[in-house]
Amino acid sequence: MAKILLAASASVALYKACDLASKLAQDGHAVRAILTKRAAELVNPQLFEAVTSEPAFVDEFGAARRSAMDHIDLAQWGELFLTAPASADLVARFAHGLADDLVTTTALALPTGTPKLVSPAMNPNMLAQPAVRRNLAQLAADGWLVIEPEVGHTACGDAGRGRLPEPATLVERVRAVLAKRR
Ligand SMILES: Cc1cc2nc3c(=O)[nH]c(=O)nc-3n(C[C@H](O)[C@H](O)[C@H](O)COP(=O)(O)O)c2cc1C
Repeated sequence: MAKILLAASASVALYKACDLASKLAQDGHAVRAILTKRAAELVNPQLFEAVTSEPAFVDEFGAARRSAMDHIDLAQWGELFLTAPASADLVARFAHGLADDLVTTTALALPTGTPKLVSPAMNPNMLAQPAVRRNLAQLAADGWLVIEPEVGHTACGDAGRGRLPEPATLVERVRAVLAKRR
């Protein structure tokens, strides 16, 4: 079983991320959630702590920090980095190598070879934008495993491609990546 960093951003599909964290923990993994500040406005990180029995993180500055440099400690702790859901904004920040919050800074600090999975979720019109397609293609070229959003009813009330896969599906993807490493 693995030490998994679960990054989550401010998508309406964030409600599935708590279930995902729970299912990964039930699968025997140690799961530490890192939420963007916007995500933490939608869902309190304490809920992730409750379902994982591990600390959840949002900010490494000021009172919220857990150690001297949370991004370094997290990057060294994690054996797999899964982002679900990834907003269009977070996809763009990953694709451009930004390090403007704890999620992106941790992603950059990961040792070479740490598997990085990204599961975008957004309105179908957003997903179809050339800029978003370009950023996802860049992530794939950079070695990220991009989990293509599913077609169906999106939580924002639209229909089309953009839906976050069910947590059980994402757990399977994690299992498959870990199995290849053994
Ligand atoms: C309730 C709500 C739901 C949202 N859902 C999505 C979404 O599913 N996908 C997306 O890309 N952006 C979504 N947005 C917009 C993002 O939250 C916004 O772009 C934000 O800057 C993302 O910040 P983050 O990437 O740091 O979490 C949503 C915004 C709100 C208020």
